[in-house]
Amino acid sequence: MEKSIGIFDSGIGGLTVLKEILEVLPHENTIYLGDTARVPYGTKSAPTIKRYALEDAQFLINHGIKIIVVACNTASANATSFLQDRFNLPILEVIRPGAEKAAKSTRSGKVGVIGTEATIKSNAYAAHIRHINPDIEVFSKSCPLFVPLVEETWSDPEDESALSDIKSRTVKRYLDEFSDREIDTLVLGCTHYPLLKETIDAFMGEGVKLIDSAIETAQDVVRVLNDMKLCSNTAQEAQHQYFVTDAPERFRTLGTRFLGKPLERVQQIEIKPH
Ligand code: DGL
Repeated sequence: MEKSIGIFDSGIGGLTVLKEILEVLPHENTIYLGDTARVPYGTKSAPTIKRYALEDAQFLINHGIKIIVVACNTASANATSFLQDRFNLPILEVIRPGAEKAAKSTRSGKVGVIGTEATIKSNAYAAHIRHINPDIEVFSKSCPLFVPLVEETWSDPEDESALSDIKSRTVKRYLDEFSDREIDTLVLGCTHYPLLKETIDAFMGEGVKLIDSAIETAQDVVRVLNDMKLCSNTAQEAQHQYFVTDAPERFRTLGTRFLGKPLERVQQIEIKPH
């Protein structure tokens, strides 16, 4: 059987990255690991995130994958070079592709970045953007309430408009400060934020372009597979496996919203400490 692309995230959010990968690479087998027992990573310290990322990557490598995609922004920001130093296969991540697109897109030279606390604290997006163009000013902001806001819903459809009101107010509360900064580009630096795109877009207005790191990362995966001649050559239907570290029910239910289609074959596994 053709080797798979291995993708990991702290939990469910990385399915937004997988969704974009499946869009551009429909013939590739994939193995997704969501570390649902230890989510969130965004509030953890860098050493803990590195340890978790190492164990996640090792799990995928034990399944004989051909490349790893670190779908989690927090793990990408804190553990990419740590993983690249330890494993001998291509390890892609979500920060560089998003940063490159942002640097290319801005005309005003002012870019906003939003993400979890640990992503913003790492300064990874700002460092990448400024490495590409030191003249760009980067304004970063952590938005910790966005993750639960995207994951939770009310079961009664009548509450739909109340929920959208809460989303708009939370977005305004976090992003208001960008109004005075004259940014024309905003990086959605967290797996969950694509699901808030409409609300963020409505608040930021037409003059601000939103950069979705998931879309940029999927393009990067295509490029690397082509360059390294690692693309799948089979005409067989692609296989997709999902592993989680906690009970699969919540992942299966919520995941459908993140992936945009039902998830088959979700298995609970235990990750071995490194
Ligand atoms: N997947 C994480 C990220 O993209 C968000 C959820 C978490 O904090 O673990 O940063």
